Amino acid sequence: MPSIVIVGAQWGDEGKGKVVDLLAENASVVARFQGGNNAGHTIVRGDEVFKFHLIPSGILYPGTTCVIGNGVVVDPTVLTAEIDGLRDRGVDVSNLRVSANAHLIMPYHLMLDHAHEAKLGKLEIGTTKRGIGPCYADKASRLGIRVQDLLDEKILKQKIMAAMEPKRLMLRPFERDPALDLHAMTEQYMLHGNRLERHIADTASLLHRALDDEELVIFEGAQAALLDIDHGTYPFVTSSNPVAGAACVGSGVGPRDITEVWGVAKAYATRVGAGPFPTELDDELGEDIRQRGGEFGTTTGRPRRTGWLDIIALRYAARINGMTALAITKLDVLGGHDTIRVCTGYQTSDGAELDTFPYHQTVLHHAKPIYTDLPGWHEDITGCRTVDELPENALGYLRFIEEHAGVPISLVGVGPARDQIVWLGERSPLLAA
Ligand code: IMP
Repeated sequence: MPSIVIVGAQWGDEGKGKVVDLLAENASVVARFQGGNNAGHTIVRGDEVFKFHLIPSGILYPGTTCVIGNGVVVDPTVLTAEIDGLRDRGVDVSNLRVSANAHLIMPYHLMLDHAHEAKLGKLEIGTTKRGIGPCYADKASRLGIRVQDLLDEKILKQKIMAAMEPKRLMLRPFERDPALDLHAMTEQYMLHGNRLERHIADTASLLHRALDDEELVIFEGAQAALLDIDHGTYPFVTSSNPVAGAACVGSGVGPRDITEVWGVAKAYATRVGAGPFPTELDDELGEDIRQRGGEFGTTTGRPRRTGWLDIIALRYAARINGMTALAITKLDVLGGHDTIRVCTGYQTSDGAELDTFPYHQTVLHHAKPIYTDLPGWHEDITGCRTVDELPENALGYLRFIEEHAGVPISLVGVGPARDQIVWLGERSPLLAA
């Protein structure tokens, strides 16, 4: 059985959760490897809607072990609330495992995230304000608190003291906040430790066993290629590496353990937060896509910026991830237009034309999209389940994406429900009949 990494191919919110959910049923393990509760996905199961921020959606399958890997940053308040919420709805969470090496989001990380953004003013990044950046910064500074530290009060207190010391000045506006009191914080986090202890594990070894036994392992990415701290539109990015390579680092497996990389992209593009977005539609059409696609953040509720599909950015994402397949979601949202536009080049401020993603921030900021127009379709495709049922122009659009992104499309989403998908080519052997 292969192992598959599922990654976002644009700016996030592509519907990775739905793809993971489809594969998770037959998976032995679903593992997250980066990000934190800045992510969010919605899974529709019959009449029930589940919203996840930290726990992999595989938790809905009793036989699937869900791993929160070492590369994830964990807010224990959010994690324990998510566990409670699932338990209240009758979901068994005994198969959840949290890496002892994962870093913890502390109350001061949330405060610093707010403070940094406020300080940037108009230049703000538009973070989710969940403390993600400051937590990864502490990890890199060797001042992080890890999940395993929750099991030793003395060490926990010492580490919190050491971590807060260099932040004193920045934290001054919050000094009266009771959440910053060292004793209260230590006590609160020890309580979290108590609650989480049964889930804390050596998750790398667990993954090694599953891979050695040739079981299906899914690595669930959060955010997306263009939000990658190294390869995205820096500084308007998240603080981790959402690209497929990070599945190894963030979970403790090697590159040879990965067999497939599936990129998930919407049939159009969206972005939350600030930063360049060449195909943005700042008009009625953009608003129409936002409303029809329900483009409002799962985590923050913010309206998402919307635009046409950017093939240059998608081809770049395919390359840096080493994608073996693409899943295209929300194709139904794009129906009802006479013409569908796809960005197949950029014009730079000095008039040059590019067909690759520019490495220089300034070039990208001023890049104007060059569009190829394709015929749209007016049929309702939400009931389509096979390729033959798709309107010719919808299929033509998909073939255009395959050709220009250089990656075959494995499946297409035509609605939010689990069964609203069309397999292109071979139906995945990973799924039961
Ligand atoms: P942070 O990850 O909270 O630090 O936010 C940094 C940037 O990443 C901001 O532009 C956020 O809007 C964006 N971001 C973080 N997580 C997600 C996500 O799950 N979907 C879409 N954008 C995200």
